[in-house]
Amino acid sequence: MKADNPIGIFDSGVGGTSIWKEIHQLLPNEHTLYLADSKNAPYGNRSAEEISALSVKNTEKLLEMGAKIIVVACNTATTNAISLLRKNYDIPFIGIEPAIKPAALQSKTGKIGILATRGTLSSALFSQTSDTFTKDISVVEVIGEGLVPLIENGDFDNPELDKLLQKYIKPMIAANVDYLVLGCSHYPYLIPKLSKILPEHIKIIDSGIAVAKQTKFLLEKHDLIRKEISTPKLQFYSNTGIGTLKYLLGEFDNIEIETMDF
Ligand code: SIN
Repeated sequence: MKADNPIGIFDSGVGGTSIWKEIHQLLPNEHTLYLADSKNAPYGNRSAEEISALSVKNTEKLLEMGAKIIVVACNTATTNAISLLRKNYDIPFIGIEPAIKPAALQSKTGKIGILATRGTLSSALFSQTSDTFTKDISVVEVIGEGLVPLIENGDFDNPELDKLLQKYIKPMIAANVDYLVLGCSHYPYLIPKLSKILPEHIKIIDSGIAVAKQTKFLLEKHDLIRKEISTPKLQFYSNTGIGTLKYLLGEFDNIEIETMDF
């Protein structure tokens, strides 16, 4: 696999662009290829079998398009399908798991909250991680039902979004958590709203920077860091409309956003 090939990234939709931003910031010379499988979003309410089949489909497409490494920028796909992907394909994969470990280590109240999809919270990988790192900690798990479709539609001004967030955060505040773990790559786009709702002592943790660092580490390990110095190609493909991608990536003027059937 050539170092000049792109980093492949996929998500159930637009949320993984929050991870892409961290990757691009850390590795600005890399070509990137992002697939937003918005047609099949949300993954969070699908069965583990469906999530695996969709993850395989996205992986095949990224490989066909020349990806040298693949970032699964979706918590639901990572927790349900990354072992299968690693077993079936001879290419490095980076997954995104909820940042339970740092939250558990830093918590002073001994209570942390996690907001994630049903698919993530019910997965075996999530249970293992949670069991390993939260032995002496209580975890308030809340399913963020309904959040992903609103984000996919770019409905950031919809009052329903604020209502849902208030409802999901309430039990965490009542339980005296001091860390809120965002367990879905769509949710970092809700940080401005969450910051208004949360009391000041509750800190938000997401996994974007850790995923970017792990991507860099694996590229170095496999001698896949791009050495050529020329403007990288930053390509985004959605299998529905491109409106929300354009909105979320509006600050970047050197990117290509297109629709594609996959
Ligand atoms: C979803 O598609 O339900 C959310 C994706 C994620 O878990 O990051």
